Amino acid sequence: MSRHPLSGKNIVLGVAGSIAAYKAAELASRLVQVGAQVDTVMTREATAFVAPLTFQALTHRPVIVDLFDPRSELAIDHVAVAKRADAILLAPATAQLIARLAAGMADDAVTATVLAAAAPVVICPAMETNMYRHPATQANLARLKEWGAVVVEPASGRLASGAEGIGRLADPGTILGTLRWVLGRNGDLAGRRVVVSAGGTREAIDPVRYITNRSSGKMGHALAAAARDRGAQVTLVTTVAPDPETAAGVDVRRVESALDMLSAVQGAVQSADALIMAAAVADFRPESAAAHKVKKGDADAWTLRLVRNPDVLASVSGPFIKIGFAAETRDIRENALSKLKAKGLHMIVANDVSEPGSGFESDTNRVTIFHADGRVEELPLLPKLEVAHRVLDRLVELLG
Ligand code: CTP
Repeated sequence: MSRHPLSGKNIVLGVAGSIAAYKAAELASRLVQVGAQVDTVMTREATAFVAPLTFQALTHRPVIVDLFDPRSELAIDHVAVAKRADAILLAPATAQLIARLAAGMADDAVTATVLAAAAPVVICPAMETNMYRHPATQANLARLKEWGAVVVEPASGRLASGAEGIGRLADPGTILGTLRWVLGRNGDLAGRRVVVSAGGTREAIDPVRYITNRSSGKMGHALAAAARDRGAQVTLVTTVAPDPETAAGVDVRRVESALDMLSAVQGAVQSADALIMAAAVADFRPESAAAHKVKKGDADAWTLRLVRNPDVLASVSGPFIKIGFAAETRDIRENALSKLKAKGLHMIVANDVSEPGSGFESDTNRVTIFHADGRVEELPLLPKLEVAHRVLDRLVELLG
């Protein structure tokens, strides 16, 4: 069974009349791809921008536009659609739709469905900058938030009018990530603070060069997303920018070097319940980073002196669960067990990075989990998101 938080969920997608309505088609498609059942509800104005047939084809379900259309079997049924919804996603939400919702109106299929539902509502405004900034719109959004709605801030950039400003529908990844966060809020990590590190550190040689390793950050990013999806408050300390879907609802701290990572992790673990170090921290860094680009001159060789970096995982301690990773190319068991002990870990997730389909840059991973109590779990080759969930299952057990 897929552990994707949207898989098997009933999502009502409400589409209002904005030029951004076409982007709702991508949202519908991505929701269906991850296994959600999508019921699309459109305002009459929205159908001027995108045909209901587009959504019907993408979701394989009838689309509700007119509540009183005698030909539509679903129209009268909007209450049933509302009742079975796990979440309602309004994207794009126009100033007009937001105003009608804030007034508690039920004058069309979208507002009537929202009013009839008890599910959480995620509102994604899209409109001209002045309409968005207008005190009326802001007051309406504030009111809807007070009633429990989650608002995904629009992005800034070029608007349909040609002007630049805030008001573009948020990135689809940000919208889907927010929906995942909303659906997971009461998960088994709710109320927990989890710190995850990800990516290979970059150790500067000079302003244009650095030493790094092959870590892509994917495993750590999957852990951060999965912990967020299960209700944790996540801090992600990473050398690689996460995609918008991972970043939504996550406190992302970008770092470069091992020393940066050390201070970010030290700060983040202060009140944490768990630290999961998936980052590939460079063991050594250049003794000093040159202030200016190093010129080759007529040198035939260049000797770079490296000094030892601190061990982030070994140097932080406190009343939190410590989970490490071990990337090995041989003697996995011996190496993993000695790191587990030396760094005072509750568990270590080891993988053979030389194996195909495992480790760096791959979307899958085959890992073995070594526990401090001696248990050893060998997992099959799995998508990194599923590996993340297996690790978090064990974390939930450890947290009791
Ligand atoms: N780690 C760390 N700080 C370092 C090096 C590693 O926090 N300076 C963490 C990694 O994030 C990982 C674990 O320690 O969770 C093991 O990292 P790994 O690179 O596999 O091992 P090392 O401790 O560097 O040992 P070796 O060089 O012998 O493989």
